[in-house]
Amino acid sequence: MESNSRATTIAELLKQQTALMEPGEKLPSVRELSKRYAASPVTITQAITALSSLGLVRAEPGRGTFVAARGEAAEPDYAWQSAALGRTRVDPVRAGRFGAPGVGEQVQLSWGYLAPELQPFDELRTLGVRSAKSHRAWTMAPPMGLPELRSAFATPLGAEQGDVLVMPGGQQSLVFAMRTLADPGATLITESPSYPGAALAAQAAGLHIAAVPADAEGIVVEKLAETLARTHATLIYLQPYCTNPSGAVLSAARRGEVLALAKQYGAFIIEDDWARNLSLDAMAPPPLFLQDPHGHVVTIATLSKPAAPGLRVGALMARGPAAERLRTARIADDMCVPPLTQEIALGLLASNAWPRHLKRLRAGLLERRNAMMAQLEASVPSARVPITPSGGIHLWVRLPGGTDTTALTAAAREVGVLIGDGKHYFLDEPTAPYIRLSYSAASIVEIQEGVRRLASVLPAS
Ligand SMILES: Cc1ncc(COP(=O)(O)O)c(C=O)c1O
Repeated sequence: MESNSRATTIAELLKQQTALMEPGEKLPSVRELSKRYAASPVTITQAITALSSLGLVRAEPGRGTFVAARGEAAEPDYAWQSAALGRTRVDPVRAGRFGAPGVGEQVQLSWGYLAPELQPFDELRTLGVRSAKSHRAWTMAPPMGLPELRSAFATPLGAEQGDVLVMPGGQQSLVFAMRTLADPGATLITESPSYPGAALAAQAAGLHIAAVPADAEGIVVEKLAETLARTHATLIYLQPYCTNPSGAVLSAARRGEVLALAKQYGAFIIEDDWARNLSLDAMAPPPLFLQDPHGHVVTIATLSKPAAPGLRVGALMARGPAAERLRTARIADDMCVPPLTQEIALGLLASNAWPRHLKRLRAGLLERRNAMMAQLEASVPSARVPITPSGGIHLWVRLPGGTDTTALTAAAREVGVLIGDGKHYFLDEPTAPYIRLSYSAASIVEIQEGVRRLASVLPAS
């Protein structure tokens, strides 16, 4: 051990020395180096071998060791890593399809976050400066989050402060809940079509995925019952309010049936409540969490959607032993969400600016949704929007049978419009050709222009 670290030190010194020498120049002999560094010949040989494996020197048996030509430095060889790592958990193709904000002149109709002008940017900037000046922002927060922020998430939903864990956003909450509430190798049931990030989260947690079809009223309950019986799964992922991508809202009747099934099979429901603050036509129904006294529902909230994605603040609500396990696991994960961002989030949720912002945001999104629907009707009469979303930010657009949505997505990109290929939202084969168009990241003029350009690349039907 000692000789190894000595060899590493000498290798570092020799590396510095050879950097000052000319390629082809001979290094002092092992005996000389041994004397110079007061180390055994074995240690010197170890140091030279280390340099040789980096391609910095070349040993020629019987002649000595020479500085290698600079270009000769060996390319790093990472092949061993794939063997050591085994199969990849998170599918890189699926992960690679994740959207990005778009660049330059691109019209962004596939990004599931708000355009800068819809974000409460002035408030965030002021709160950022103010929060950074407070000592609280630079000390450790409790692992569950700042108590006031936990209350700020709990109170509007009628939940308790103690039910809430402050989390670094919705995506992290999904992985965290799946990892903590199930063992690798277990099965997660999810409605389909659904948010592709949930499938990635399940993969990251080492879970198998079983897809259950959904329609305009949400997950099909008979199929859910069958799948629970067949898979013995104890985790169900749902977006009861305004599913991404379809806009479906779980009907009142099905809410009760889904909860009854969770009870019957002893399963958890991960309720992804991302769209709660983005209701457009009607108030959002209360979260499933409130309808379930027995701790089956674990609810995820995020500020990424109604405020700003870069804030990375959300919340997870749970009750009972599961809540206890989640709290413990948070400590193991990262101690706490950065207090600075918690302070900013708290400042935002606690200020009068928050309800004002939400009012303005909802009006802005409603205008955009209507503009997109109208433009689709005018420019793409062959398209159908089966569900007019009562909240959220996406239109789930059905195209005529036979439309190749992957080719269409590529053609749209060619004319500067980014859209979501519907295939990515199905866990199994798509039931029909769909695209997802998001109306939150573009202005009304851009939406209109984007849909017109999309129409120009649609195959004639
Ligand atoms: C349904 C749904 N859940 C969760 C998330 C993750 O959101 P966050 O940015 O808070 O991680 C997204 C983001 O696109 C989403 O669409």
